[in-house]
Order: sequence, then C-alpha cells, then structure tokens
Amino acid sequence: MVVKGVFWEDVLVRKKVLGNTDVELTTVGLGAWAMGGPWLYGWGPQDDNDSIRTIHTALDEGINWIDTAPIYGHGRSESIVGKALKEIPNKPFIATKCGLTWDSSNERITCLKRDSIRRECEQSLKRLGINAIDLYQIHRNQPDEDIEEAWEQLARLKEQGLVRFTAVCNFNVSQLKRAQSIAPVTSLQPPYSMLHREVEDDVLKFCQANNIGIVSYSPMQRGLLTGKITPQRLANLPDSDHRKVNPDFNEPKLSPTLNLVEHLKPIAQKNNITLPQLAIAWILRRKEVTSAIVGARKPEQIQETVKASDIDLSAEDIETIEQLLAMRDEKIKAAS
Ligand SMILES: NC(=O)c1ccc[n+]([C@@H]2O[C@H](COP(=O)([O-])OP(=O)(O)OC[C@H]3O[C@@H](n4cnc5c(N)ncnc54)[C@H](OP(=O)(O)O)[C@@H]3O)[C@@H](O)[C@H]2O)c1
Repeated sequence: MVVKGVFWEDVLVRKKVLGNTDVELTTVGLGAWAMGGPWLYGWGPQDDNDSIRTIHTALDEGINWIDTAPIYGHGRSESIVGKALKEIPNKPFIATKCGLTWDSSNERITCLKRDSIRRECEQSLKRLGINAIDLYQIHRNQPDEDIEEAWEQLARLKEQGLVRFTAVCNFNVSQLKRAQSIAPVTSLQPPYSMLHREVEDDVLKFCQANNIGIVSYSPMQRGLLTGKITPQRLANLPDSDHRKVNPDFNEPKLSPTLNLVEHLKPIAQKNNITLPQLAIAWILRRKEVTSAIVGARKPEQIQETVKASDIDLSAEDIETIEQLLAMRDEKIKAAS
C-alpha cells in the first residue's frame, strides 16, 4: 500500500512500507552495482566522481534508499557509497549483502559460513562508515545446504545491533519457507522486469501472504529496455562490461528484444513518458512490489528514472504490453 511520499518539484516520489518493518521506502531505490567499475561482472570503467554525484542527485530527488554489495567492484561500490554519505547530514536507508566474496586472485567465492558472514559484515560497516546496516541481505541462494547457517548468523548480527533488518536475494519459495521457520524475512530481492517474469509464478504471491517486502532488481534489464542499447553500442562495449556476454544481450534473444523496445516506444510517447520510466512503472504496477532498485551511473539517468515512482499505467497499456511480450517470446522460440 502506498502510504505517502515526498514531492520534488512537481513529481511525487511515492513510498511504501517495507515488509514487516515500519520503514517507508521510496518506490524507486538507487542501485550501485555499476558504480563498482570493472571486475568479473562489472560494467566497464566508471568515474567515482560521477558515482558520488549520482548518489547525491538521487537523494536530492527524494530517493531514500541505496542498494549495494561488497562484491560490486570488490569493495569499490560500498566505499563510494560510504564516501558519498560522509558529505551529507541525513543518511538514507542502506542495503547491502553478504555471501559473495573473492580471494587474492580475484576469483569469486560463494560462501554462507557464519565466520565469513561476520567478517563480511564488519568490512561492509567499515567501508560504508556506518554503525549498523539497515538491510542485510544474503546475496545468492547458494550453497543451498548452508542457507540455515547463514540465516541464523544474520539473526545473531541483528541481535547484536550490527544490522537492523535481515533479508535475502534470489531465494525461491521453498528457501524462503526454510528461512521463515528460523526468523522472519523482511524482504526478498529478486530479478523482475518485462524480460524476466519468473517471480510472477509463485514468489510474489508468497511474499504478499507472508508480509515479505519485494525490492526487485534490474527493472530495465540492465539497460536493454531503455532504448539506448543498439547492436552498434553493444559491439563497442568494453570487454570489462559483463553485458557483452550476457545471454539477454545476445542472439537469439537480442533481436526480438530490440524489436519489442521499438513497439514500446509509442506506448511511452502516448503517456508522455520515456522508455526507462515505462519499464520501471510496469514493475511498480504490481501491488506486491515495495520498490524497484534502479541502477544509474550518471546523475541525469536517475533524474529521469525517479519520475517512474509517480506513474500509473492504464489497464489498456498493460494489456498491449502483455501482447508484445508474448510476440517476443514467440520470436525467440522460433529463432532458438
Ligand atoms: N541481488 C542481486 O543478485 C542483484 C542482481 C542485479 C542487480 N541488483 C541490484 O539492482 C540494481 C539495479 O539493477 P541493474 O543495475 O542490474 O539494472 P537496471 O536498473 O535495469 O539498469 C541499470 C543500467 O541502465 C542504464 N540506465 C540507467 N538509467 C538510464 C536512463 N535514464 N536512460 C538510459 N539508460 C539508463 C545504465 O547503464 P549504461 O549507462 O551503461 O547504459 C544503468 O547502469 C543494481 O545496481 C543492484 O543494486 C542486485
């Protein structure tokens, strides 16, 4: 339920209560993955000053929360968020994650062992320059057999005041049930966009029924739905941009997706909104979704996307999009 919002100029940035808390999050949150710069799953070179200006702009525009993770640039994204926070008096709600680390040769390690999580938590607090993490999330749902150990450790960190609320990302319903049997889950962070709708099967319903907030990620499918991705731009992406090898950015999916984007343009134009705003408003049409985590690497990007918080799509437009998505699926099937 929308409880209230903050006005910025003539735009309302709406807020919703997060899961089992009394915290009101803006329905657009800022995602800081790309601010990590180059690493195994990085987004190519990123200027730290641009990142800091993007964070300050997001907060000036009324966004009240930021999502980051230690793995994003191996500490760089969290450090940049920490640096940006130092320069402002009112701290936003900070979400970060645990369970994905790296070794001395920068190999990615998936680990949910209790000692590793405590170490990660202490390092995140230091990088972010805060005394407690507002939302601490298990990043991946692997190794599956260690989920209980990790979740118990998060509950302990909460008791000790190092984190305020505990949450998970990428969990399925059965994993959510296992976590819920130990301690309540405040929120789930799943992928959700026009191109990835898997959570619509059962996850959204389960979370709604169990008072688990949904803070969904990649609403513009990492930029694919913004209209700014063309075959030429993809060909020019640096090798350190993981999108170059991501299946969504390659055939047989790419052409049907770019064709979909062309057909979304008239819907955006009719509503006097942009394609990025349309993609995010489409996520927010679902009442189960608390907030969409929107990635940005430049101030102008978040200035544009924050406005999606105040857009309601008509039933007619939603139905048209449904038909366009079905056509895209058919084309991919035919090309596979
Ligand atoms: N828990 C998890 O496993 C997980 C996984 C993925 C993401 N996340 C979180 O969710 C956040 C958002 O997801 P995301 O960053 O993957 O994808 P996204 O929000 O769908 O896309 C973000 C990218 O789109 C482009 N963009 C942003 N605003 C734009 C605008 N106004 N016009 C044109 N292009 C624009 C930018 O890339 P370019 O400038 O390069 O075009 C930006 O980096 C992440 O930052 C992260 O915090 C979590």
